[in-house]
Amino acid sequence: MDKKVHELLNTQINKEFYSAYLYLDFSNYFKARGLDGFANWYMIQAQEERDHAMLFYQYLQNENQTVTLEAIAKPDKSFASHMEVLEAGLEHEKYVTSLINDIYAAAYDSRDFRTMQFLDWFVKEQGEEETNANDMITKMELFGSDPRSLYLLNQELAARVYTAPSLVL
Ligand code: FEO
Repeated sequence: MDKKVHELLNTQINKEFYSAYLYLDFSNYFKARGLDGFANWYMIQAQEERDHAMLFYQYLQNENQTVTLEAIAKPDKSFASHMEVLEAGLEHEKYVTSLINDIYAAAYDSRDFRTMQFLDWFVKEQGEEETNANDMITKMELFGSDPRSLYLLNQELAARVYTAPSLVL
């Protein structure tokens, strides 16, 4: 495997674990404010990010490439409103999309078609992740300022259940 592709794939393990840590922090934010449905939604989001990390980990191992685990950064943002949390979520997903695109470009440059095929799932997934983050913002804009509507939105988000990723390596 090309050195740059290998490095980027290995770094992505860390980035996905950081995403899990970030969303766990979001979950913690909402739990502390009595919004258990939002806390549930982000707890499941954190689980999905751990799955993403493990897919990169597994892929490198399957390709007989070394895996090097690095320190996971501290999620250190503080938020003045619920909306700021959701906006940080969208911003973060756009950043992750750019990272996936960078790996894809490096794989393309080195004619690493297997890695491109592996990344196809993530390209699609990032589209869904950005849509979900956008939807959260839209719903908060519509319902966040009315306590009864926020209560119902919180209930809706409480219904989210974890499903394993559709990509199996
Ligand atoms: Fe692993 Fe939220 O993308």
